[in-house]
Amino acid sequence: MKTVKKVPLPKKPMINIRQKASFKKAILITLGFLASFVVLITVVSFIFAEIQVPRFVNRDLVIQNKLIVLPLLEPEVVGEEKVFVLSAEQGETILLDGKPTNTVGYNGSYLGPTLRAHKGDHVRIVLTNNLSKPVTAHWHGMHLPAIMDGGPHQEIAPGEVWEPHWTIENEAATLWYHPHVIEHSGEEVYSGLAGLFIVDDENSDSLSLPKVYGVDDVPLIVQDREFREDGQFVFAPQRKDELGHTGMLGDAILVNGTYAPFVDVPAKQIRLRILNASNARRYNFGFEDRRTFYQIATDGGLLLSPVARTRMILAPGERAEVIVDLTGETEPLALISDAVHEENEVLRFVRTMINAERDENQIFKIIELRPQPTAEVIENLPQLLNSIEPLPSTSAVRTRRFILDPRNRSINGEVMDHQYVNEVVRSGDVEIWEIINLSGTFHPFHIHGVQFQILDRGGKPPADYELGWKDTMLVSNAEIVHVIMRFPEFSDPHTPYMYHCHILEHEDMGMMGQFIVTEENTFDEEIHIEAIDSGTESYHNHAP
Ligand code: C2O
Ligand code: CU
Ligand code: CU
Repeated sequence: MKTVKKVPLPKKPMINIRQKASFKKAILITLGFLASFVVLITVVSFIFAEIQVPRFVNRDLVIQNKLIVLPLLEPEVVGEEKVFVLSAEQGETILLDGKPTNTVGYNGSYLGPTLRAHKGDHVRIVLTNNLSKPVTAHWHGMHLPAIMDGGPHQEIAPGEVWEPHWTIENEAATLWYHPHVIEHSGEEVYSGLAGLFIVDDENSDSLSLPKVYGVDDVPLIVQDREFREDGQFVFAPQRKDELGHTGMLGDAILVNGTYAPFVDVPAKQIRLRILNASNARRYNFGFEDRRTFYQIATDGGLLLSPVARTRMILAPGERAEVIVDLTGETEPLALISDAVHEENEVLRFVRTMINAERDENQIFKIIELRPQPTAEVIENLPQLLNSIEPLPSTSAVRTRRFILDPRNRSINGEVMDHQYVNEVVRSGDVEIWEIINLSGTFHPFHIHGVQFQILDRGGKPPADYELGWKDTMLVSNAEIVHVIMRFPEFSDPHTPYMYHCHILEHEDMGMMGQFIVTEENTFDEEIHIEAIDSGTESYHNHAP
């Protein structure tokens, strides 16, 4: 007989109940935590979203002023040369509310005429300084000898005349000119000194693109300004926020020196040549109705083919040409600047929280296009615009590194010293420059004397709208950008070219350096800069 051993019931159930209870409790606690976490996140992102709603700064702006189209400056043909006569003038301009503002201009009281020349032209500029302070005219984006560049070393004293001359080697592009006086570029550009320099070539002549200046090919020089009650400009270069100096930002937008502008254009394809000539503001251009437009050119020339876009960020110093189709339209169309959002969400959050948005979470009306009936035939946008010789990274003989320092006032730890040669480059060399932004804000990095190609942004190939010639490029915070370029054939062991941040206040505070282009056989001892003021020489202490 099998004995069945009576085994007492284990006390397990009791324990089980208790365990179940604590398990339930744990779940409840976890759920509670989760729930409050979700609530917290929702609340925070709700508040964040609220803060992040862009402010439409000039929503109620009454568009009432006809856009000033800066005149084309007719050159005088003297022998082989096209001679352009310019003078820097002090004046008064009525910009806002009928009140005169003290301004400065080239050949007028605000901004300057548009210079236009063809590739291969021999040009000469006769520039008189009628101001009571030194001035320069730098040919931004132009490929020319350093001594003709109009940088800080080609200062024109009051009453003096400067006559740079060169042969146009650039391809068709929208370039510009502006002063480059040590520590005062910001102030001089802000007060009105800037103008366009349009280059044409055989390719651009042959393309069927809108090209009637001021009619269907409209230049737009976009600048932000701040006005005092009495109509004078406010210029406060020292403004800063938690991330350092912001540069001069204003809430009033001028286009070609016109406030609240409109422009009548034929109801067809229109070309806009946009220059961001602001001291420090980035714009995120696009149309109010979010329609697609086509970018056809970068700083230094036409793109390979048109690139469809709805928004386009331009940093100070950058240019773009775009085509917008107004065929058959009758309603006005506003070009706006949308908010510029930080790509890095964490940084965006931090910037918002510490109130360091640099006025970028804002929307501005820029200009209203008013289409007028036209009998002109509709043309298709050419799909092939240019041929661009790619510079492969293997063609570079060296890579130089430039670190944009956190304090927004130096590069590689060096503050601009106009008697110090930061870099020595051999003429004709292809080099890669690596730009590393260690600061908390963006910097538009500009190099004189060359047009470069962007190789990559943080290891990623550039967007198709950046696959063209550039002389100024946006370097966002914490970004590393590689560019490649061939240095000019011109060499000059005594006159440097500049590279710098094109936020003019950063440039003026010292975020600029100098490079000299020399021949292969130049001895190190020959490399020095002639001092600007005294004519005495100083030697560089930086081995090439
Ligand atoms: Cu547009 Cu060195 O400048
Ligand atoms: Cu320049
Ligand atoms: Cu900067």
